[in-house]
Amino acid sequence: MRRELLDLVGSGLLVAGLTLALVGALVPAAATEGATPSSTADGRTLFFAKGCSGCHSISALGIRAPVSGPPDLSKLPDEAATRRPGLTSTDYVRESILAPASFVAPGASDATNVMPVLAVNASELDALVAFLLAPR
Ligand code: HEC
Repeated sequence: MRRELLDLVGSGLLVAGLTLALVGALVPAAATEGATPSSTADGRTLFFAKGCSGCHSISALGIRAPVSGPPDLSKLPDEAATRRPGLTSTDYVRESILAPASFVAPGASDATNVMPVLAVNASELDALVAFLLAPR
């Protein structure tokens, strides 16, 4: 009887220990994910949160901007690598966001139609680039 009770307590402690280990493993992962968004889903959220969607449509994804001057980014995954000789698609999109004035994309309707420099940190930039270059 006493032995069984000890076994019961022992297995209860084991379950508690395993639960704590599991929570310990999951919680830091979730915290890291929140601090460094890098998935295309985060990029989509940022596309709206940073105001990109106020200018750019991505009609292939059903995203429609209220204005028509700035280029639609639907074909960006195919075209980005061809924009600037020597720049990979990733580098081209990073440059487009960090320093929009360094190159004017062919889809821009006229010279007054310029892209502003927006505040984007390194991890936000990675997430936006992943989203913009993901196959449609
Ligand atoms: C006020 C309007 C406006 C906003 C807001 C804006 N853009 Fe732009 N964007 C433009 C215009 C205009 C161009 C074309 C001229 C140029 O290349 O600089 C452009 C060009 C681009 C290009 C190059 C497109 C190509 O086909 O080569 C990318 C990529 C881009 N924008 C991404 C973004 C992202 C990401 C955001 C949000 C962080 C954003 N833009 C916010 C107006 C805007």
